[in-house]
Amino acid sequence: MINRRIVSGMRPTGKLHLGHFHGVLANWLELQREYECFFFAADWHSLTTEYNNTDGIAESIRDMVLDWLSFGIDPGKSTIFCQSAVHQHAELNLILSMITPVSWLERNPTYKEMQENLAAKDLSTFGFLGYPVLMAADIILYKAARVPVGHDQLPHLEITREIARRFNYLYGEVFPEPEALLTETPKVLGLDGRKMSKSYGNAIFLSETADETRKKVMSMVTDTQRVRRSDPGEPDRCVAYSLNNIYLTESQKEEIGVACRGAQIGCVDCKKIQAEALVSALAPFRSRREELTANPSMVDDILADGSRRAARQASETMRQVREAIKV
Ligand code: TRP
Ligand code: SF4
Repeated sequence: MINRRIVSGMRPTGKLHLGHFHGVLANWLELQREYECFFFAADWHSLTTEYNNTDGIAESIRDMVLDWLSFGIDPGKSTIFCQSAVHQHAELNLILSMITPVSWLERNPTYKEMQENLAAKDLSTFGFLGYPVLMAADIILYKAARVPVGHDQLPHLEITREIARRFNYLYGEVFPEPEALLTETPKVLGLDGRKMSKSYGNAIFLSETADETRKKVMSMVTDTQRVRRSDPGEPDRCVAYSLNNIYLTESQKEEIGVACRGAQIGCVDCKKIQAEALVSALAPFRSRREELTANPSMVDDILADGSRRAARQASETMRQVREAIKV
């Protein structure tokens, strides 16, 4: 049987925005149709940088998983769980840490880069250095064939492959070497034209109301070269249009193109059309989110059930691991 298993984790950062939706989640939705998927909240990975500030993690997991479910990640198709609920991740992490040369971790470019980017934090910890070892455990615990990741995660995945190879070399063939499924994520622009990001304060969230979204669209930057209403504009230079055109029908796009270039429509009126297209596209996801929010135990049940399913696989792998290492 060909191995069609996928594993992917996301560190819990709270409520998700449209950047996540059009990037990682759109990809997960595709994958869950074709593969056996394991999607998890990587809360232990959050500890590598947030060890001194753990108050928000539990709530962030709930918010994040609520958004996954609302956007269509389906517990009937995929196993949705929380890393810290499956203790075998920690167990395998320990064993892999015994066979991982420190030099592999120290030369990891993502490690150096993150340490520089987060210079205000003391990241000279054992756990932070070992981030890729825990990630390797996450992946090979389920014997995943493929791992959807962005460019930034490729060095980590290379370490996962090296660790799997080394384990097999030392103790016999237990793990397949997982391949990266490189996902090209479209750059989704935020309200101000920079990349959409929670930390820039320029994001549109599923968890906000339709009216909040409308207001945000109305505040979006347009074509900055169109100074007066009578100046012709260009949708290709318009930040609002770059986000919202995904939601417009072909005929709406055509009409806006003509009207903008011919200065026949003002940006306020145009953005009203765009906002309505966005709001109606999000409506089904929003009502799903409301439904789930009204039933808090539903998310807990889904996570508990997913964690049980994940633990079944994980304990079978650990049985093989212990047999292989004879300890
Ligand atoms: N490191 C990943 C990130 O920051 C999250 C992650 C943890 C992950 N374990 C994983 C992704 C296993 C894929 C597979 O995005
Ligand atoms: Fe953008 Fe519409 Fe204004 Fe053209 S008319 S610049 S597409 S908001």
